[in-house]
Amino acid sequence: MSLLKRIVVVSRDAEIHRLAQKYGREVFGADSLNDALGIVKTANPDLILFDHRFNPDHIREFFDTADKYLGDVPVVAVGGDDSDAGLYDEYIKMGAYDYLQGRRDYGRLEQIINVIENDLSGSGSEAGHRTESSASGSEVNLSRFFVDNLAASVSMVGKSCAIINTLKMTQLVAESRCNPILIVGETGTGKELVARAIHALRHPNEPCVAVNCAALTANLLESELFGHVKGSFTGADREKIGLLELASTGTLLLDEISEMPIDLQAKLLRVLQEKSFRKVGGIRNIDCKATIMASSNRNLNNEVLANRFRRDLYYRLNVSPITLAPLRSPERREDIRLLAEYFLKTSTICPEKRDKVKSLTQMAIEALEKHDWPGNVRELSNVIERAILLETTDKIGLSGIIIDPSECNRVSGDTTDLIKGFSLAKAERELISRALQETGWQKTRAAALLGITRATLYAKVKQYQIEKNSCIEKSSVSAKGGQDDFSMSSLSKPVPIH
Ligand SMILES: Nc1ncnc2c1ncn2[C@@H]1O[C@H](COP(=O)(O)OP(=O)(O)OP(=O)(O)O)[C@@H](O)[C@H]1O
Ligand SMILES: [Mg+2]
Repeated sequence: MSLLKRIVVVSRDAEIHRLAQKYGREVFGADSLNDALGIVKTANPDLILFDHRFNPDHIREFFDTADKYLGDVPVVAVGGDDSDAGLYDEYIKMGAYDYLQGRRDYGRLEQIINVIENDLSGSGSEAGHRTESSASGSEVNLSRFFVDNLAASVSMVGKSCAIINTLKMTQLVAESRCNPILIVGETGTGKELVARAIHALRHPNEPCVAVNCAALTANLLESELFGHVKGSFTGADREKIGLLELASTGTLLLDEISEMPIDLQAKLLRVLQEKSFRKVGGIRNIDCKATIMASSNRNLNNEVLANRFRRDLYYRLNVSPITLAPLRSPERREDIRLLAEYFLKTSTICPEKRDKVKSLTQMAIEALEKHDWPGNVRELSNVIERAILLETTDKIGLSGIIIDPSECNRVSGDTTDLIKGFSLAKAERELISRALQETGWQKTRAAALLGITRATLYAKVKQYQIEKNSCIEKSSVSAKGGQDDFSMSSLSKPVPIH
């Protein structure tokens, strides 16, 4: 079953929330169009669900106000059980991706998610969008990439001491009654995979909800976590169920806990100590039975010393922390090769090159092994996807390893003539046009290729007024070396990492 990274649910219907939790790793709740806009601005969701309170005109209003933050994020309207089938056309006309006609249609959401997920996989937006099958769809045996079943269950590649120790600790903590659980490590090291492994071992059939503490304002985060009662603040025109309540007897993952505002840290500490909480404005204590996990890519001890993180909360969290080593560390570096081969085998970024790009040359692997990987596994996965996309032979060589595509604007001395008369802006426009053309205008894939976010891509497309039919002709981008020929081939000259 496919899982999307983030779903926003504009509804207070607990059933629709539960439905979203089945398909989303992080589910954000909103009550109103305004609320939804606030979350969309910061959370970068993959899907937005509106309940039947929002008619087709509301959806249009939402598109009008949220347009520049939305990109092509699909919006699905979920009608009530007695809603009118005729509304389908109305919603679609207003720009909705689909319309579910009440509970009888809930099953269809899985198909919708699969289509969205496939689209995202095609974009290579993150290694999470990988399949257990090869690019051609045939099943492949991936067991050689994993130390044990636990690692395989969450696709955690690696055979190094660092990974073996992490998995041991993960198993121990999952089987203990340790609660809360802290997972630390630099960005992209695999903290979310560890969280998923613990959840799968501890609460296989319970909900898992997650919130990124850096993605929401203090007020939104508080009502997201605790929920609120009707009338508790201006705009709280109805009751909201918070994530602590939605997690029920499952898991609540607090991602990037170091970014939680200090006032809220105090409130969280109280929940951890008293195992109960109140909704914002509420008077009733609600039991908290969930496992609370927190992850951080900052050193929390340093945050405590800088007075940005409460010492008492740090001690409460730091009982048996699980630490992910950076990919460059001596005890994990040996996994780089295995990870690169795994990403090559499982990537779905370029279906048209199905199984054509089969391996990496020894020099390419050595180059990968020499790099320091500040973005860790996520960065490595992006580098491999970019290499697959650009590769024209069956083997990725040294020249295919482009570590930072934005660096590609740095052209070495022998090509200086080539760029006379060109501004950086012109070069950027051309690079973006070419990426869009290469990917058939799939913006998420183009953004991945360029190593920028979708939002940045949208902004640049607008800034440079790039239109589908204004895209450069393929013939004009070949490396002829003329004055007016700042071609992609020169732009995409690999940045040497060796
Ligand atoms: N050992 C691994 N094997 C395969 N893929 C991995 C591994 N570790 C991480 N990844 C992939 O790298 C990406 C980043 O991993 P993840 O989201 O777990 O990192 P993180 O530590 O939570 O990062 P952040 O701090 O930025 O949230 C994901 O796509 C994940 O699937
Ligand atoms: Mg994470």
